[in-house]
Parts: sequence; C-alpha cells; structure tokens
Amino acid sequence: METRVIEIDPLDDCRRVYREAADLLAAGELVAIPTETVYGLGADAFNADAVARVFAVKERPSFDPLICHLSNARALKDIADVPEALQPLVDKLAKEFWPGPMTLVLPRRACVPDVVTSGLPTVACRVTSHEAMRGVARALGHPIAAPSANRFGNISPTSAGAVLKELGGSISLVLDAGACSEGLESTILQPFIDEKGKPAVRLLREGPVTREKLRGICRVVKPGKGGEAEASLPNAPGQIKSHYAPGKPLLLHDPRTPFEPQEGVAYGLISYKGDSPLAEQDCWVETMTLSPGSGRLVEAAVRLFAVMRAMDENEEVQVIVAEELPKMGLGYAMMDRLTRASARRDD
Ligand code: TXA
Ligand code: MG
Repeated sequence: METRVIEIDPLDDCRRVYREAADLLAAGELVAIPTETVYGLGADAFNADAVARVFAVKERPSFDPLICHLSNARALKDIADVPEALQPLVDKLAKEFWPGPMTLVLPRRACVPDVVTSGLPTVACRVTSHEAMRGVARALGHPIAAPSANRFGNISPTSAGAVLKELGGSISLVLDAGACSEGLESTILQPFIDEKGKPAVRLLREGPVTREKLRGICRVVKPGKGGEAEASLPNAPGQIKSHYAPGKPLLLHDPRTPFEPQEGVAYGLISYKGDSPLAEQDCWVETMTLSPGSGRLVEAAVRLFAVMRAMDENEEVQVIVAEELPKMGLGYAMMDRLTRASARRDD
C-alpha cells in the first residue's frame, strides 16, 4: 500500500483535508494524525474492524487498550458514564487541562466496542489541543481511537517522518503538521473515590500534566498505593516494563558518576545539559544534548524521542547511554520513558 502524506498548517483552514481524512476513516482505513504529544494512528472508534487493524498494523497485543480522541469535552458523555460522585472532579480536570495532554480513564458506555477497551469496563478519553485530531474527529462525527503511531514497544513518533519510518506502506495517509509541541505522551489519570470517600486520581502514566500541576486539584496516588478503594479498580494494562525502546541497548547513568566503558564498544551519550562530568568523558563516539546550556525540562521533553531515534539510526553507535534526569516536573515522565527504554524487551 502506498502511504500518502498531506502537509497541513493547522492555522490555515484545513477543513477539506480533515474531511478527506474523515472519509478514509469512515471507510475503515487508518490515518496517522498529529496531536500535541505524539502522532496517533487513528481509526473510527465505533468501527471494530478498523480498530482491529490498528492492533494488527502496530503488532500490538490485544490486551493493551486504546485512547479515544474526542472533538471536545462535551462529547465525553457519548463514550463514558461518569459516576455522579466523580462528576465535579472530572469537570474540574477537563476545565483545567482540556484541550491538552491529559487522558481520563472512566467507566465506558456500551457503544464503545470491546476491541477499543480490550474488554475493560473503562475507556480512556482525551481531548487533544491539536486542531488536526479534533478537526478530523469533528468531520467524522465519532471519536477516533488512536494509539501512538509506532510499532508496539518502539519509540513514539513526534514527526511525520518518524511515522513513515514506523508504519509507511501499511497505512493510507499521514497528516503532516510538523513536530509535536509536547513530545511526550499524555498523562493518564483514573479518577476514583478514595478510602475516605473523597475523589482522587490514580496516576497511570506520567506525562506533560505533571504531579505539580495536579497538586491543589485533588489527591494523586500511584498505582498500587490507593488502599482498598483503589485495589478494587481494574488493573492498568499497557504499563509494560519494556517500552518506548530503541533497537540498541540503552543504559541509564548518573551524570555525576564516571562511566566505565567496555573495550571495543562504541557508546553514544544523551546528555541533559551537555556540561556534566559524564559528558566531559572522552569515550563517546557521539553526544546529543537535550537542552544545552541551563537545561530546560520542557525543551528536553520535546526533543527526547527525536534524539533517541537519531541515536538509534546513527551507525557508529552500538550502545546508547542516557543521563538520569532531575526528579521534578517533566523529569518524572522522561525518566519513566527512559527506564522503560532501558528494560530488556524480554524482561
Ligand atoms: O499522548 C498520547 O496519549 C498519545 C496520543 C496519540 O494521544 N497516545 C498514546 O496511546 O500514547 P498509546 O496507545 O500508545 O498509550 C495509551 C495507554 C496504554 O498504555 C494503555 O494501556 C492505556 O493508555 N489505556 C488505554 N485504555 C485504558 C483503560 N481503559 N484503562 C487503563 N489504561 C488504559
Ligand atoms: Mg504507545
């Protein structure tokens, strides 16, 4: 199959392109569509056969459910049944972070096909701030089920070029709106009532909506730490230990302690600011810096996956070493991705 690419500028009137993409989705085809986090591989969420093809093309295990992308927050009620006790918290989160890089896991409505949710009683819902995904969902009139547009376990694509490398030849169309502005997948939250009867969220995946940003809105618990009320929730799938992984081995290393290279191995370094004792060692055949100079976590997050990809493609590098990042703000989400990237695939 030939994969077409249409370049768009979401600031222009792109309604004709969105219509064209929606027509393909309505016909059961798959289209890669940008969001502010990473590019998604979209299918009509209400077309079970098309969604099944998303799993096939990505080689994704069927137990790992997909996120439904909505054209706006009002459409949430079309796919989720929000319990009355959680409604005020859901409204607050939606008001604060939608459109944006937040996904809410909520009880599903029966109209959502099992294949989307892997048979779970919940559905993951998101309103992205990217005009393209929302525009296509609006034109389609249905939510768009879209995981990241990479083969399962690989690095998520933050550009159309990366999508083509992952899935070119097996999907109909890529909408190319350039690089993603956030660069890390959305924060996934599951609202629930805690043991004290108060609304809280379980943080299923760290992302651009950081713990700091959630503070003051509600209690945030990590999976497995919410007491009995939390234990009664269905398990979070998809939090697989080895994920977001380059083809080469990746080692995480403290930037302040010396690295001891093995003889005859060519190492490439991913440095945070480029000025650490680690970066100053002379054992690297390539060094790439996420945020040169003073180090900004936002800039590092935007560049992380593209840099991992570039290291993976650099033929001189055999093993990638990545500096551990500060444990604050976006640092948590980046460390989550790097830790998974460093896990062996058969772990
Ligand atoms: O930023 C993002 O979230 C991107 C863009 C395209 O929206 N999407 C994305 O999708 O990262 P994906 O499929 O690569 O990751 C979605 C995660 C998976 O780990 C999955 O297990 C989890 O969401 N998920 C989906 N539905 C769930 C549910 N009902 N309960 C718990 N986790 C769920
Ligand atoms: Mg993914």
